[in-house]
Amino acid sequence: MRILVTGAAGFIGATFVHRRLAAGDDHIIVVDKLTYAGNPANLTGLADDPATRERYRFIEADIADEPLMKELASECDAIVNFAAESHVDRSILEPTAFLHTGVMGVYSLLEAARSEHEKRGGAFRLLQVSTDEVYGPVSEGLSVESDRIRPTSPYSAAKAAGEHLVAASHETHGLDTIITRGANTYGPNQYPEKLIPLFITNALDDESLPMYGDGMQRRDWLFVADHADGIGVALDRGEAGAAYNIPGDGVERPNRAVTEAILEHLDKPWSLVRIVPDRPGHDRRYALDGSRLRGLGWEPRVTFEDGIALTVDWYAAHREWWEPIKSGDWHDYYQQQYAWRLEQSTDA
Ligand code: NAD
Ligand code: DAU
Repeated sequence: MRILVTGAAGFIGATFVHRRLAAGDDHIIVVDKLTYAGNPANLTGLADDPATRERYRFIEADIADEPLMKELASECDAIVNFAAESHVDRSILEPTAFLHTGVMGVYSLLEAARSEHEKRGGAFRLLQVSTDEVYGPVSEGLSVESDRIRPTSPYSAAKAAGEHLVAASHETHGLDTIITRGANTYGPNQYPEKLIPLFITNALDDESLPMYGDGMQRRDWLFVADHADGIGVALDRGEAGAAYNIPGDGVERPNRAVTEAILEHLDKPWSLVRIVPDRPGHDRRYALDGSRLRGLGWEPRVTFEDGIALTVDWYAAHREWWEPIKSGDWHDYYQQQYAWRLEQSTDA
């Protein structure tokens, strides 16, 4: 398949590209705007490796550049859209970029897909990578794909808006679309603003771990390779117009348990953890039913115990990857998000 993969200098997109290029004979064009979260180091090797260099191209661009997206789509059979502003806390501080990419960016890709769909009489697929956060918090049971979506943060509202545009293009223009809704994802190469890489890298430097509220918010953690493979299965075998949940290993864990696992693996003390004022609108729990994607033959392979050990070891061994990120603009963000919280913090 010839695939236009957008947002693939980020965490999950880069993993997807590495795995698709290693596993088969796909040709991939990556488009990424290289925002603060986009990192060319995540794609290292692909442009030089004799096994991949003829099948891989990188273009620095905004997905909202519709003429360019149309031109690139005409060289491909499918678009897989990872591009998004992805951090909930940043969406609370300043949501404009979330709307630009999540609404106008997604619309531009849909227009590119529509133009190919019309030229070819179908035979062009667009997969929108979405999130379990569109369901909003679920107090009990599991979210199924037919549930109503009720986003609660500017981030998840922007993702939900993108989903609505995708679903509308399927209904109105008959576009071949797929939506995936993945659970909280973790693993190597994740930008260190998210819970797991933030707590690992802070703990490695003996800095405080700012735990929001009571730390009893629950998530179903999904290892990044399993998420990338789930997206691949939905792309290859999914039914046009359908959405697919991608859950984690099925064991929900409160943030306290995730933090304990990190500290235990690093042999660092619990006293590093500080209880700080909560994230506004903090979703208490997400939990997904993954039967639909399992029906296509996908299963998560990595347990949380194995995945967290591998992830902690990766950050411990790759300071050269994350230390440059935690400098410059990072300090402004960290000050704005955490300085006042840490001043008001209490023992955990
Ligand atoms: P990330 O923040 O690591 O990467 C996002 C990438 O998108 C970056 O490389 C960035 O430069 C690029 N980008 C942003 N705006 C762009 C634009 N306008 N044009 C082109 N490129 C742009 O994010 P991630 O964690 O890899 O998430 C990827 C996707 O998966 C997102 O759509 C996110 O909503 C979704 N998702 C993430 C998780 C998670 O836990 N990380 C879980 C479920 C779904
Ligand atoms: O569920 C999928 C979503 O998972 C993705 O769509 C998002 O892109 C991704 O960022 C993630 O969202 P969360 O808000 O769940 O992830 P985050 O790592 O920001 O937070 C995980 C939990 O940890 C959440 O309950 C908030 C808490 N937390 C987070 C940070 C950054 C803390 O207690 N302290 C922190 O400093």
